Amino acid sequence: MSQATPAADWRGAPRADRTEAWAALGGHFEAHGRAFDLREAFARDPQRFGSLSYEAPEVFADLSKNLIDLATLHFLVDLARECRLESRRDAMLAGEPVNITEGRAVLHTALRAPVGQGPYSSAVHEVLERMLAFAERARDTAASGLADVVNIGIGGSDLGPQMAVPALDAFGHPGLRLHFVSNVDGHDIAPVLRGLDARRTLFIIASKTFTTQETMANAQVARDWFVQQGGRDIARHFVATTTNVEAAAEFGIRETFGFWDWVGGRYSMWSAIGLPIAIAIGAANFRDLLAGAHAMDRHFALTPLERNVPALLGLLDVWYRNFHRFTSRSVAPYHQGLKRLPAYLQQLEMESNGKHVDLDGEPLPFATSPVVWGEPGTNGQHAFFQMLHQGSDVVPVEFIAVREPSHPYRALHEKALANCLAQGQALMLGKSTDEALGEKAPTASSMLDAITVARHRTFPGNRPSTTLVLERLTPRSLGALVAMYEHRVFTSGAIWGINSFDQWGVELGKALCNRLLPRFSNGDVVGLDASTGGLLRRLVK
Ligand code: F6P
Repeated sequence: MSQATPAADWRGAPRADRTEAWAALGGHFEAHGRAFDLREAFARDPQRFGSLSYEAPEVFADLSKNLIDLATLHFLVDLARECRLESRRDAMLAGEPVNITEGRAVLHTALRAPVGQGPYSSAVHEVLERMLAFAERARDTAASGLADVVNIGIGGSDLGPQMAVPALDAFGHPGLRLHFVSNVDGHDIAPVLRGLDARRTLFIIASKTFTTQETMANAQVARDWFVQQGGRDIARHFVATTTNVEAAAEFGIRETFGFWDWVGGRYSMWSAIGLPIAIAIGAANFRDLLAGAHAMDRHFALTPLERNVPALLGLLDVWYRNFHRFTSRSVAPYHQGLKRLPAYLQQLEMESNGKHVDLDGEPLPFATSPVVWGEPGTNGQHAFFQMLHQGSDVVPVEFIAVREPSHPYRALHEKALANCLAQGQALMLGKSTDEALGEKAPTASSMLDAITVARHRTFPGNRPSTTLVLERLTPRSLGALVAMYEHRVFTSGAIWGINSFDQWGVELGKALCNRLLPRFSNGDVVGLDASTGGLLRRLVK
């Protein structure tokens, strides 16, 4: 699928801040970036929307409300080329061990390649077929007797299915309820178990390693509950999605759907980890999800960087993080089905690119992952949008609009879309103090003079946003959208020269937790720092 770029030279790519393009971008930022004004840019260039919006499979991306012009993109693409983004991409797609700290290939793209077209094709399709056949049997509720499916997993073994199942609610099985348990806090599993009938429940224990504390603890609780309810046939009511088949067998599970160490946790919803999605939407729709992702993979692999949507978005992230020094990005899907997308993207982006050293382990002199956060519109408007419009920080916002709803309430849908466009407009246009002075403010205090009120009612404007448009939220478009985000994260990670595919940052907390746990039984605080010891005493008393 990849172009003919020689893949081998990615390892010797220069560090971003040592490239000519980085220096050129710095100059461009000082000359045109810092004071860039979106309103003036649109006034100057009537073609701006057309020249800064792009088509990718299933996704239309309007970048025109960003603090960029064609020259900015030109310099950013130069940076990508100097940092050998294309050879790094090709190396990933070819299965080279780009996850250098774990010596692993990174081949989530192989999971969605058609038969015979990607690395490990026969192994991938063998598991896929087996998993889809199992999903179809589970969906035949008259024969399977199932009413509830509980996925027990955390992080990448939870967030993908938990995001995709509600997103594809319109394609869901009407007779099956899907539940997700992730947190080791028992307040997560307790209400789920309360509503279940053991005879009609399937538990999926989802864990790449089958060692994760939270998942193993919840799996034990589920198995104990099942036995207490009179359940006897564990092998029929528990299945596992894991790379650790032996550990699953030890747990008493016979039906296991495997995957491989070259599938990162946060890139695993396309693998057996997608089983809850396949049960919810069925085999044909799951294949469409994969096909949408594959179409985006092809776009990323084959489209010149100048029109390559994931690459451009990743480069925009670099521009904002390293030149404008914006610290976060807010995601606002104007589709309630995408309510878990911000949480999914948090893991995808922040676990991938929250790194502070380059591939050689050298500390980086520039910033990497922004904070990614958000909520679906219009709920966010009534919560944190105040800060986006009038706060002291600039936060680029990413709107996601879906043209065709999956419900019959057209009037509601038009309101949702109008709100989406209005927020992008308001962020960009703002409101001057003069405009505010000329308006009535019936709720303003009569004790204040007009200019003071107008200052409070002023919006700085010139705040950037991107709008992504899908025709409909379908398995295919969701697949393309998520793959687009994966490749965008890859792009910014490649420019920063980091390893986007390890996650050592979660290790320390895990190790300290294991050391603290026995102290909860014996109350021992010896050797702890004063705060941790004080808190422990307070919590165990
Ligand atoms: O949080 C760290 C992490 O390793 C994630 O990367 C991963 O998705 C999650 O834990 C769950 O791991 P596992 O699937 O092995 O239970």
